[in-house]
Amino acid sequence: MADLVSDIWNGLRVLKVQNEAAEALIALHGAHVLSYKPAGERELLWLSQESWHEAGKPIRGGIPICWPWFGPAQEPPHGVARLNEWTLRETASEPGKTVLGFEAFSFENRIAELTITVADTLSMELTTTNLGAEDFRLTEAFHSYFAISDIANIRITGLDKAEYLDTLTGLRHIQDEDIRFNAETDRIYDSSAAECLVDDPAYTRKIRIAKEGSLSTVVWNPWIAKSRRMPDFGDEEYHGMVCVETANAGNDFRILKQGEKHTLKVSIGLK
Ligand code: BG6
Repeated sequence: MADLVSDIWNGLRVLKVQNEAAEALIALHGAHVLSYKPAGERELLWLSQESWHEAGKPIRGGIPICWPWFGPAQEPPHGVARLNEWTLRETASEPGKTVLGFEAFSFENRIAELTITVADTLSMELTTTNLGAEDFRLTEAFHSYFAISDIANIRITGLDKAEYLDTLTGLRHIQDEDIRFNAETDRIYDSSAAECLVDDPAYTRKIRIAKEGSLSTVVWNPWIAKSRRMPDFGDEEYHGMVCVETANAGNDFRILKQGEKHTLKVSIGLK
């Protein structure tokens, strides 16, 4: 198909999508969106220069899929989906829209079905089915890293008055106005379905993150010391990125009984 080409990028098998509305680069390793650019616009996603690009290791940047658990509670951190080699099952296209459906990924009686749509927004939809006899506690995220002019310049709107867990202290707080950054920030806002905007005046743009099936948003910037500790993250790279993750995390975990499904959706674009 003309709008979809297979290629190799830094040793990884990737799909290059290009249509009238946008272009995207997606690694089969993790079904990981590495790049997304609406036509005529600057890149929306951030990717580390220090990232691993190899089997068994996650990619730093883009949109890792954290499934079927979020965070470091179990090994590997953020689950197994971002380390899995996914297979493209089918594609459909129309002018300005390319839809990629992936083969279902099965892990311990849990099935993940993923669709990625590249259009004037980038949409991702992940449906989990529990085939096991036991109830399953699902946590997950589209761990999107956004490219920004500088972390000191931006603000995130949409979470004013939302309650959050500060992962760094273990304490819960209520957000007061917009989110701005002047230190390491690692929070789970876990009772809001609202869309968020990454407002970046220096880039004269607002990135809009809208969602369904999610009451939680994770906001993360590692700042100085953690950037230095991470082997796959440049010491100064924290300036140019912010994570606003569409999640089921914190108090927003989902319990799936045998045969039950849950769908998490995100739609990312410019406002
Ligand atoms: C975020 C977490 O979602 O992911 C952070 O809130 C974590 O605590 C970050 O450091 C990156 O995780 P990883 O496993 O990709 O290094």
